[in-house]
Formats: sequence, structure tokens, C-alpha cells
Amino acid sequence: MEWMEAEDYQDMSEKAGEIVLEEMRARSLPTLGLATGSTPEGLYQYLIMQYQRGKVSYRKTRTFNLDEYVDLPWEHPNSYYHYMKEKFFSHVDVQDKNTYLPDGMAENLEKECMKYESEIAAAGGVVTQVLGLGGNGHIGFNEPGTPFDSRTHVVDLKESTRRANARFFPSLEEVPKQAITMGIETIMESKRILLLVSGRNKREALARLMEGEVSEEFPASVLWRHPNVQVIADREALGK
Ligand code: F6R
Repeated sequence: MEWMEAEDYQDMSEKAGEIVLEEMRARSLPTLGLATGSTPEGLYQYLIMQYQRGKVSYRKTRTFNLDEYVDLPWEHPNSYYHYMKEKFFSHVDVQDKNTYLPDGMAENLEKECMKYESEIAAAGGVVTQVLGLGGNGHIGFNEPGTPFDSRTHVVDLKESTRRANARFFPSLEEVPKQAITMGIETIMESKRILLLVSGRNKREALARLMEGEVSEEFPASVLWRHPNVQVIADREALGK
């Protein structure tokens, strides 16, 4: 695991952006794994800015998002599909047909999970996967206790995660109770992983990750077993 210290959120986002762009330039058909939430917003802004300056095109990029809520239509303002459109996709030249998210409205959710796995496989796998860190160590929506050999699956969201995400909804009751998420093994198959961590409220989780104990009780700890992980953490998250 490679650790990079960033001055602040902005610096973390730029550092991550440069790594993503480097990877994009190195490949004719780049495949990115993307996250939602507060953490990668600055990264998306940076990637948009570089596009607007003519430094990069996403025309041939394929993207796979980590997760999506169950029973929230894609056009709902809080769906991750909507988030991705608003924060990234609609500002760049990525092609709709190349942006993948699990469909939380699918009639058969189990089938949808398998379909998502085969779409990732058909694309040749994710090259660079961007991750945020949950306060309880979750990655994607893989909550503590999720087996390390899990593939894309439906998950019941923990109360703590629903509370953490309630800030995006009018009330806690409206936060969905389930989501589809890439599994831990699915995430671990990406060739490179970028874990972004920012802010005081991630301090404890980051400190626990740094301890280096690998346990299903703290999902992000599995990243110690991946050969190519970069953690970009800002000084606040590092407790400096
Ligand atoms: C988002 C995701 C989650 C978040 C995590 C941190 O697609 O899969 O694992 O990365 O909950 O969220 P933020 O960045 O909002 O603190």
C-alpha cells in the first residue's frame, strides 16, 4: 500500500485526478471504477476541468460504478445514476452506453448482480478503481462482516450507513434500506485502487486501516492484500 499525504481536500482531489488522467493516457480503452458520495466530488470537478481545457477526452472511457440504491428510480435526485450524471458524466464527452451502474430497479435483483459482473468481465475488468472510505470501514456498500470473497450482491444497509447518507435525503425514512454493490472480491480484481480519504470524520477509520490488521469486520482492511493500492489522505484525516 502506498500512502500519499495531501494538504487538504482540494490537493487530494488534484492528486487523485492526475493519477486517473495518467492511467487514461496510458490506455486506448480505459476502464474506470467510480464511487459516489462527498469524497470524489472534487476529483470529478478536476476531471471535468481538464476536459474543458482540452487535456483529455473520455470518448473511449468505460466506467463502472460501485453501487446503486435499490428501489430508487434512476431519475430520482438521490440515485447514484443521477449523482454521476450531475457531477461528472453530463459535463464530459463520455458516451452513455459506456457508463455502467447496477440497476436497483431491476425486477430480478440477483440476475442484475450477475449481469453487472458479466459486463465488468466483458470490458476486461476495471483498471483503476476509485474508492471512498466509510466511517465503519465499508467500501462500496460492503458493510462490516461482508465476506472477502463476495461478488456483486444485494445488501441491507446498516443503520449507521443510512444515517451517514441521510444528509442527501429529505429525511432518514427516505434513505433506501437496500443497495446493490460490487462485492469485495469484485473490487479487489481491479488492477489498481485509489482510496481517497478526507476530513476529520474519517480520522478513526483511517487510523484503524493504518494499524494493518486485516479483518472482515473492517472491510477496507482487505486492501492490504492488493498489490497496487494508493491511499491519498489529507492532513485532517491523518490527524495532523
Ligand atoms: C459510494 C460508496 C461508499 C462511499 C463511502 C464514503 O459509491 O460506495 O462506500 O465511498 O460511504 O462516503 P463519503 O465520501 O460520502 O464520505
